Amino acid sequence: MNSIYIHIPFCEQKCFYCAFASFDKQFDKVEKYFNALKKEIDTSPFKLKIGSIFIGGGTPSAVNPCFIEQILRSVREKFQVEKDAEITLEANPNSLDEKKLKKYFEMGINRLSIGVQSLDNRQLKTLGRLHNRKQVFKVLKTAKKAGYKNINCDLLLGLERQNFFQLKREINSLKKYVTHFSCYMLQVEEGSPLKVMVEKGKVKLPQDDKVAQQYHKLAKFLKKNGFEQYEISNFASNGWLCRHNLNYWSRGNYLGFGLGAHSFIDGTRWANSSSFDDYFIGKKAFTEQLDNKQIVEEIVMLGLRCCLGFRLSQLKKYGVKLEKNPYFNEFLEKGVLKAENGVIKINPDYYGVSNLVIEKLIDF
Ligand SMILES: C[S@@+](CC[C@H](N)C(=O)[O-])C[C@H]1O[C@@H](n2cnc3c(N)ncnc32)[C@H](O)[C@@H]1O
Ligand code: SF4
Repeated sequence: MNSIYIHIPFCEQKCFYCAFASFDKQFDKVEKYFNALKKEIDTSPFKLKIGSIFIGGGTPSAVNPCFIEQILRSVREKFQVEKDAEITLEANPNSLDEKKLKKYFEMGINRLSIGVQSLDNRQLKTLGRLHNRKQVFKVLKTAKKAGYKNINCDLLLGLERQNFFQLKREINSLKKYVTHFSCYMLQVEEGSPLKVMVEKGKVKLPQDDKVAQQYHKLAKFLKKNGFEQYEISNFASNGWLCRHNLNYWSRGNYLGFGLGAHSFIDGTRWANSSSFDDYFIGKKAFTEQLDNKQIVEEIVMLGLRCCLGFRLSQLKKYGVKLEKNPYFNEFLEKGVLKAENGVIKINPDYYGVSNLVIEKLIDF
């Protein structure tokens, strides 16, 4: 499958923990940015059939929906977008309303990814979020009414005063509205206001081992509630796996448009610059062609972080026989890995330690 990612780098306020290419106080650049985005799409040299589009950010819901409509139109004019393509829009609860939700639906957006993060108003404030618990439910109810069948909620783990019972309560109150949860462990990013708050003792975050325990309990609880884990941080009910992410993890082709966006076509990867000025003049951040060792590492890494796994025969093409690695056989014997018709997959119980498993396997 081929995918398209479109980056919208504007946010109403920068959250205290976020290190993504997203900016507040830059709304004067919106029009110029969308013109540049349109030009980038219109002049793309690739002719691809597209199975998924992901409009992410930043906060795509923070700009006038007309800009999103115009950009989707450009994509449809330039590429052949499949009739049943998955089209996701990332949104924050405080910048969504009935009018916007209806408009997105009319323009073909059929999946929402809503940044809930927490349902505890104090935690939301500590994170620098602009929304509260009440707004989350209002938005979810409105989205259902507007016709959305496929809704994801992003949640954060490792927050101040967060425990498993809070997470359980939150899942219980959200599950009837959503088909998907993305649960990320809070990373304290270098240079972020959160890092300063933690260093000054103003915010006290739980220890890593405690968070890891909560993560395992959460994965079990979600499974009990019909949300199957199909990647370290992702859980889907009734087969609503995110097709866009699955394409990334299976090393499918994707084109990224916008500030800092990455593309990957037939083994070549490149990225746009993350600065507005450089993006406006079309400057790339890098272009790289992976060597065989890097390709193998990527196949193993991406495959074992999700339900897809990888084919042993795929590695042989690059001269790697994993069967020679003693850890590989040990992991198979112990049930950490399983082999299904030549495909090696991780046992979902080990998603939480998949990084350690991958490290041992790619040590060649
Ligand atoms: C880049 S945001 C874009 C979506 C939207 N603006 C939002 O805030 O929900 C995508 C996800 O990344 C998560 N994220 C950002 N910074 C993070 C961090 N330091 N640790 C863990 N997750 C993070 C956010 O919480 C959000 O759910
Ligand atoms: S988490 Fe989302 S809303 Fe907050 S700064 Fe990052 S991209 Fe913007």
